[in-house]
Amino acid sequence: MQAALTRTGAEWALPAATSPRMNTVDIAALYPQHLATLKARADEALARCGRDHLLVPSGRRHYQAFDDRDYAFAVNPHFKHWLPLTTVTDSWVVYTPGQRPKLVFLQPLDYWHVVPESPSGWWVEHFDIHVIRSAEEALPLLPPAARSAIIGEANSALGDYTPDNPQAALDYLHYQRSYKTAYEVALMRQAQRRAVHAHRAAERAFRAGESEFGIHMAYCLAAQQDATEVPYQNIVALNRNGAVLHYTELGRSAPDPSLSFLIDAGASHCGYAADITRTYAADRTGEFQALVDAVDAAQQAMCASVRAGTDYRQLHVDAHLALMGILREFGVLKVSPEAALATGVSAAFFPHGLGHPIGLQVHDVAGFAASDRGGSIDRPAGHPFLRMTRVLEPGMVVTIEPGIYFIDMLLDEVRRNGHGDSIDWARVDFFRPYGGIRIEDDVLCTGDAPENLTRAAFAG
Ligand code: GLY
Ligand code: MN
Ligand code: MN
Repeated sequence: MQAALTRTGAEWALPAATSPRMNTVDIAALYPQHLATLKARADEALARCGRDHLLVPSGRRHYQAFDDRDYAFAVNPHFKHWLPLTTVTDSWVVYTPGQRPKLVFLQPLDYWHVVPESPSGWWVEHFDIHVIRSAEEALPLLPPAARSAIIGEANSALGDYTPDNPQAALDYLHYQRSYKTAYEVALMRQAQRRAVHAHRAAERAFRAGESEFGIHMAYCLAAQQDATEVPYQNIVALNRNGAVLHYTELGRSAPDPSLSFLIDAGASHCGYAADITRTYAADRTGEFQALVDAVDAAQQAMCASVRAGTDYRQLHVDAHLALMGILREFGVLKVSPEAALATGVSAAFFPHGLGHPIGLQVHDVAGFAASDRGGSIDRPAGHPFLRMTRVLEPGMVVTIEPGIYFIDMLLDEVRRNGHGDSIDWARVDFFRPYGGIRIEDDVLCTGDAPENLTRAAFAG
């Protein structure tokens, strides 16, 4: 598998910087500081909930109703925060302040499935590792349940060990998870490289006339990740399908003509997500391409505003004004951006949030957190889908994903609400066949200029 990843000349060969070898060297040097940070956070979380031990189960398989078929396994994000293990079930991270962390690692006796490989990599020397052959063998290796904070899913329960997720611990751990360590940022850069490589393959497939399904397959082949490994379902939309925000149908035949292509697709690396959207016009000289270019330029300006001290809610509102300015310039909107925002017309064209925190989960936790002791920051009135309301701080990674769509359901509502005069409907008719435009990058807030992780990967 690893040899295949670095094979040269093949259509899907990953760029050199993604090679596992290089990755191991860089990451190993960064891991001790990451682990020290997690230990310090765990110390404080335990103090806040009055427990002595932190137990983090990796998770257990979920099965379909009345069936022996399991769903794709999604590891507990708290578990993969400590370790780059995303496929092991019924395993436990055990942490007691002042002691080396312990990993109880299930390597079952099983001839039906491939058994997880023995632990290896940059992290093993930092853990006491206990290999078990059945889930129950974990029991004598765990500290007393009554003194433990157990962070995980309900179905990870084992004997007396039922995840109780103490709120004070969760509030603290989730809030702190917003501040990525250097190790995490390095892994996220790798996820970007993998996704960008696949985005390029997808664009080639679009320009070669492939169907949505064909483009999706080209993407997965280039990413070397299948639908259960990418961090969310690929959105691969041709023509009007781009107006369906979470379009995941994957049409088996290509439309004729194929006018436009919106792809929202990511990749995972050691449990960290990339979340990237691009929109392409078949005709690079037409008006839709010009509209894509305008949104792209505006999006880059928004990314440049990811600065410490900036309220993300303000970025979202500013994005509405910028996008409506573009629609006015292109003759779609007949009123000022401010008027479109005030009447709700702008929300018909841009009906989702500007973005969200990203990391171990594509929509990462704590986007609304008021503090590490709980509470939440409301969304601005009239913006029900925004997923991030915090003030930006160094170490946060957020997506910036403005969009403009031609969605009949929402545009009909504008008419019904008496604001139809705000729009030039002939221009809507012109752009409707192209569906919509979204451009999405993942951006690291620093103490200085932001680092656009996605653009850096496209430039590499
Ligand atoms: N891919 C889902 C999102 O952009 O939030
Ligand atoms: Mn996103
Ligand atoms: Mn996305």
